[in-house]
Amino acid sequence: MSGQRWDTSLYDAKHSFVTKYGEDLLALLAPRAGQRILDVGCGTGHLTAQIAATGAEVVGLDHSAEMLSQARAAYPSLTFLQADAANFTVEQSFDAVFSNAALHWVRDAAGAVRSIRAALKPDGRFVAEFGGHGNIPRIAQAVRQSITELHGSDVPHVWYFPSIAEYGTLLEAIGLLLEAAWLFDRVTPLDGDDGMAHWIRMFGGGMMPGFSDADREPIIARAVAKLEPQLRIDGRWYADYKRLRVVARNGSATPVVPIAAPPSAESA
Ligand code: BEZ
Repeated sequence: MSGQRWDTSLYDAKHSFVTKYGEDLLALLAPRAGQRILDVGCGTGHLTAQIAATGAEVVGLDHSAEMLSQARAAYPSLTFLQADAANFTVEQSFDAVFSNAALHWVRDAAGAVRSIRAALKPDGRFVAEFGGHGNIPRIAQAVRQSITELHGSDVPHVWYFPSIAEYGTLLEAIGLLLEAAWLFDRVTPLDGDDGMAHWIRMFGGGMMPGFSDADREPIIARAVAKLEPQLRIDGRWYADYKRLRVVARNGSATPVVPIAAPPSAESA
């Protein structure tokens, strides 16, 4: 995940909204006892555990060793795999692949969709939510401007925030049929007076590659000052999130219906 380091206790303590909003997505997944479900980008495993509580057989997958060690400590009875979401294989296929707030980190989106499709049973479902087109425009701009003003350098593109059309086209090119998609604003409250600084420290590291922690702090402080009039409302900080939510189905089970030949000119 592009230069991103995870402080898992900060993640759980200050960014529990990631799990809270994911519960909404679980309703769309509607897991049932006995189903096999793969949670891609499971992080510290809280949603994986909620899926397991339905009686489904769930496996959590994440690239981050730090996240997985926290997940394994919290949920020792669950299975967690360390793998790259853009390039993984599984031994036994799944009824559904679930992913919350993770796929915007995977720049090789085609690799991720290929891996997900290969992990699904022929009629299996893919239910995911992540940052969509127009996600965090103000936060990204404030950090970008602060880096340019302080260091004169540009900022790499860190995340993948596709539109419905772009992601739907990718899914279908790889054989996952898009059944439903939504792109919507989710202005998300952050905790405390330092909510925005914590957010940038936690998630924005990839925009500041090559900067030491000491160099990052003035960038963060400058970005926070720029954002105060835009994203601090009545004393509370908000992140300007836009979510892309999709439900797709593995097309391998789609029956091929023979198309009747058009009546010939003579028989008309
Ligand atoms: C998001 O959930 O939209 C997000 C989180 C961290 C970095 C960028 C986007």
